[in-house]
Amino acid sequence: MAKKIRFGLVGAGWMGKSHASAFRNAALVFRSRLPEIELRAVADVNLESARTLALANGCSRWTTDYNEIINDPEIDVVDITTPNDTHFVIARAAIAAGKHIYCEKPLTLDSRESQILTDEANAAGLITLVGFNYLMNPAQSLARHLIQSGEIGEVISFRGIRDGDAAVDPLAPFSWRHDRKIAGSGALGDTGTHALSMAQMLVGDIDSVFGFTKTFIKERPVSVAGSGYSSRADLTRMRAVENDDTTLCMLTFKNGAVGSMSCSRVATGRRAWLTYEIQGTKGGLFFTQQRMNELQFYRHSDPPSERGYKTIYIGPEHGIYSAFHPIPGMQIGYNDLKIIEVHELLTAIEKNMPAFPDFEFANKIAKVVDAILLSAEEGRWTALDELHAPSTVRE
Ligand SMILES: NC(=O)c1ccc[n+]([C@@H]2O[C@H](COP(=O)([O-])OP(=O)(O)OC[C@H]3O[C@@H](n4cnc5c(N)ncnc54)[C@H](O)[C@@H]3O)[C@@H](O)[C@H]2O)c1
Repeated sequence: MAKKIRFGLVGAGWMGKSHASAFRNAALVFRSRLPEIELRAVADVNLESARTLALANGCSRWTTDYNEIINDPEIDVVDITTPNDTHFVIARAAIAAGKHIYCEKPLTLDSRESQILTDEANAAGLITLVGFNYLMNPAQSLARHLIQSGEIGEVISFRGIRDGDAAVDPLAPFSWRHDRKIAGSGALGDTGTHALSMAQMLVGDIDSVFGFTKTFIKERPVSVAGSGYSSRADLTRMRAVENDDTTLCMLTFKNGAVGSMSCSRVATGRRAWLTYEIQGTKGGLFFTQQRMNELQFYRHSDPPSERGYKTIYIGPEHGIYSAFHPIPGMQIGYNDLKIIEVHELLTAIEKNMPAFPDFEFANKIAKVVDAILLSAEEGRWTALDELHAPSTVRE
C-alpha cells in the first residue's frame, strides 16, 4: 500500500462539501483497500467558506488563493470544485506543478481548452478524473456489462434526458450558471453533459449531432450574496440570462446507432431526471436516476407470452455496492457515487493506471457539446470531425 495521499480542495461550495465528505467517507467505506487520505488545505475566494469546510473536515489550513495549494510540495492531488471557467487555469497550473487532478464537470468551457489539458496531463503522466459521478453507479457497470456481453444485441438507439427544475422559478437569482463567460453553455454543459456521458460510456463515440437551444426565462434578479444555487437575489435589479434553459439534439454514433438527448433546467415536475433507454436488436435497457438502484432489462428472446421489461435490483452481486452493504435492497445514494469516484481516483493513483472517466473522456464530451452549440447556431447537422476550434484559449 502506497504512502498517504494528500489532497488540496479548491472550491468550498456545494461540490466542495460533497468532495470533502467523499474523501473522508471513502476511507471508512473502503478501509484498508485505500491509502490513507489527508485533506491538507481548502481554498475558496470566500475565506469564511474555506474556513468552515476545512474545520468541519479536520483541516487546519484555509486560504483565498488556490496557488497555495498548487505550490505546496506536500500535496499529491488538486481537487477542483469551482465554477466552470476556473477549471482550465487551475488544472493547467496543477499539471505544471505535477499534481494529479480530480476536477468537476464540465472539464472546461470548450473543447480547445479540454484538448490542451488532456494533452498536457497525458504528457506529464498524471492521473486525472472528472466528476461524471452518475457513471459510478453499479447499475451503469451492469448496463455496460449487459451491452458488452451482447445481451441486448447490437445497440441501435439511445434516448437520454437530463431534466431538472432548479431554475423553474423566474425569480431564482442570476447565478454563475446563467453567465456565459463563467458557465459556458447553460443546461447543456451543466446537466446535459451527464446524459451525454451515459451515451459515450454505454454506446460509444458520437459522430455527428443536430442541436437546438432555447432560453425561456430571459432575465433574472441579480445575485447579491452566495454562490451557485445558494445565491440570494435582489428583486429590484434584473440581468439578462446568457445561455440555454433547454437543449435538444439528435445524435449519430460511429458504430451506426442513432440517438437523441434533451436537457432542461426549467422542467416542471422533474427534480433530477437523468434517464435513458437503449434499444438493441435483441433487447433493451431503461434507467432513471430517480430509481438509481434499479436497472430495467428487456430480452426479446423470452417467450412472446412472457415478454416485458424486468427490474434488476442492485445489490452486493453488482461489484462495488458490496463495499457499502452486505445485503441487497439497502440502496446507495448520490453522495455514495462521489465516494466510489474517490475510490476510482485513489486506486488509479495507487496502481499508476488511468482512472475512469478521465480528461480524455471529458474531452470527448466537450467536443460533443461544442458540436451541438455550433449545429444550433448554424441550423444544420455537424460532424465532430469538422469542429473548428474556438478562437481564443486563455493563458
Ligand atoms: N457532478 C455533479 O453532479 C455536479 C453537481 C453540481 C455542480 N457540479 C460542478 O461543480 C462545480 C462547482 O459547482 P457548485 O454547484 O459546487 O458551485 P458553488 O457555486 O456552490 O460553489 C463554487 C465555490 O467556488 C468558489 N470559487 C469561485 N471562484 C473561485 C476561485 N477562483 N478560487 C477559489 N474558489 C472559487 C465560490 O466562492 C464557491 O464557494 C461546477 O463546475 C459544476 O458544474 C457538478
